[in-house]
Amino acid sequence: MRVLTIIPTYNELESLPKTLRRLRTAVPASDVLIADDNSPDGTGQLADGFAAEDPAVHVLHRAGKEGLGAAYLAGFAWGLAAGYDVFVEMDADGSHQPEQLPTLLAAVEAGADLVLGSRWVQGGEVVNWPLRRKLISLGGSFYSRVLLGVRIKDITGGYRAFRRSTLEALDLSQVDSVGYGFQVDMLWRVAQLGLKIVEVPITFVEREFGASKMSGNIVQEAMINVTKWGLSARWKKLTGKS
Ligand code: GDD
Ligand code: MN
Repeated sequence: MRVLTIIPTYNELESLPKTLRRLRTAVPASDVLIADDNSPDGTGQLADGFAAEDPAVHVLHRAGKEGLGAAYLAGFAWGLAAGYDVFVEMDADGSHQPEQLPTLLAAVEAGADLVLGSRWVQGGEVVNWPLRRKLISLGGSFYSRVLLGVRIKDITGGYRAFRRSTLEALDLSQVDSVGYGFQVDMLWRVAQLGLKIVEVPITFVEREFGASKMSGNIVQEAMINVTKWGLSARWKKLTGKS
């Protein structure tokens, strides 16, 4: 399996080197694509430096900040064209432990179409998050679980592994969520296709450097979309119509 780990970055100058080093050590077999949105702090140039030294590291320079979803979609397109078999999503800030990636990849090898690194299953945990963030994440997952009717504990998480065939089965041009709602959007699409989704426990560690890009708008976008998707799925079921 040729694995590509996609790391979206926006102002991650302090975090990226450590995350990259840890990833290259923990899973040297995975290539890396850094999808940078022209970070004002120079993360993109820093990434170029790593790519110049390590042929497994690639950089996708994007014109400006267009959100996590758009960066991942561009990364998927790049990786699909390059022929990779497995696509990993990983935050740049060290919250997703590269040392736990083998667990996600093992679940893909065992047959999962989509593997979710999960903070909210047995064995999963979050380190150094204020209660407020925990409540937003748990609440967001709970709300999505009820509305969408999927039996997944961590619906918004961003540490994932997609089998190539899963991405190919989706119409990625239809995905238009900008913020972290992108994660729910992708999951919902995969669930609707009836593909095999597996959650594996992860330890999410809050970033040491820099700041989260989570905002009220991002939460709002996700809530509105989840409500729309959930209601329209129910409507379809009730009426048999789309
Ligand atoms: N290219 C690009 N463009 N990258 C971005 C953008 C953007 O507009 N916004 C955020 N990122 C990158 C960050 O640089 C980081 O590598 C990653 O996306 C996650 O951003 P954070 O801002 O650190 O996210 P968080 O810690 O608040 O959110 C975590 O929880 C969310 C909700 O559960 C992450 O695990 C998310 O993936 C998750 O959806
Ligand atoms: Mn983070």
